[in-house]
Amino acid sequence: MTSSSNRGTGVADETDTQFDLADYLATQQAQVEAALNQSITVVYPDKIYEAMRYSLMAGGKRLRPILCLATCELLGGTTEMAMPTACALEMIHTMSLIHDDLPAMDNDDYRRGKPTNHKVYGEDIAILAGDGLLAYAFEFVAAQTQQVSAERVLQVIARLGHAVGAAGLVGGQVVDLESEGKPDVSLETLNFIHRHKTGALLEASVVCGAILAGADDSNLVRLSRYAQDIGLAFQIVDDVLDITATQEELGKTAGKDLQAQKATYPSFWGIEESRRQAQALVTAAKAQVEPFGDRAKPLQAIADYITARTH
Ligand code: IPE
Ligand code: IPE
Ligand code: MG
Ligand code: MG
Ligand code: MG
Repeated sequence: MTSSSNRGTGVADETDTQFDLADYLATQQAQVEAALNQSITVVYPDKIYEAMRYSLMAGGKRLRPILCLATCELLGGTTEMAMPTACALEMIHTMSLIHDDLPAMDNDDYRRGKPTNHKVYGEDIAILAGDGLLAYAFEFVAAQTQQVSAERVLQVIARLGHAVGAAGLVGGQVVDLESEGKPDVSLETLNFIHRHKTGALLEASVVCGAILAGADDSNLVRLSRYAQDIGLAFQIVDDVLDITATQEELGKTAGKDLQAQKATYPSFWGIEESRRQAQALVTAAKAQVEPFGDRAKPLQAIADYITARTH
């Protein structure tokens, strides 16, 4: 069993007995793995495709694709409609991990239980593997999405671009790096970092699933509030786990944030208060999707998983 597995987390205990989250995640994950595995074929020049596949297929919780599929299904859409976007989200996320780990950024040697992309392929190819994954993500949505109108696909592409660019993930990463080593980072700046570097792509995962299924404006607003709350909670928990979990549990080097003097929730509030705030955000997120009734069970269970996870 890899460190990326969802089994054995005790998460099912946290949720309704009617809904087996571990089982749901395992089923969805298997579908995502199969689709990702087919998404990239190794052709000339082999090295770049191998580098892209190395990080894409290295495991991971597949949370973003699963959120996209779950939201599309919640609103009556199908797995087939959402799978190309789900794969694209994982390609974009994997790009962000490869680049985040580069020596010029967080300088990490381990990711998803394996040596980081640049450790295996070199910095030059790692940068290009990230570029390749990012570009292919957009091609993949445009070329592979079926049973969805071109207008909705266009909206998805626009949302993805906004979430990953300077207005989203890239902007958050910039402020994350600029804040390193500064003792007086404000809560406002900390929230900006989290909501952009991590929250934006998680929000896009939910919102794109909703758009593909044809969500109306009020459902889009409700679902995007759910996603913003779990997005912030997700990075708070990532920061807590960086302190409390082991490298073996995380599949990445522990204790890096303190070492790099990163602006984190635990550095601002301490571990216990950070956990409490993450839990409050998860409770608020679950309340947002309450009006969907039983159909919201997967999204509510995924929200619980954000705080219950051990990696
Ligand atoms: C790690 O994301 C990077 C952050 C945004 C905190 P995940 O914790 O989702 O990483 P994987 O995909 O499971 O490896
Ligand atoms: C991750 O933040 C943000 C992105 C990869 C966009 P971190 O730097 O905290 O992620 P980990 O801890 O390396 O996974
Ligand atoms: Mg980082
Ligand atoms: Mg990092
Ligand atoms: Mg981290």
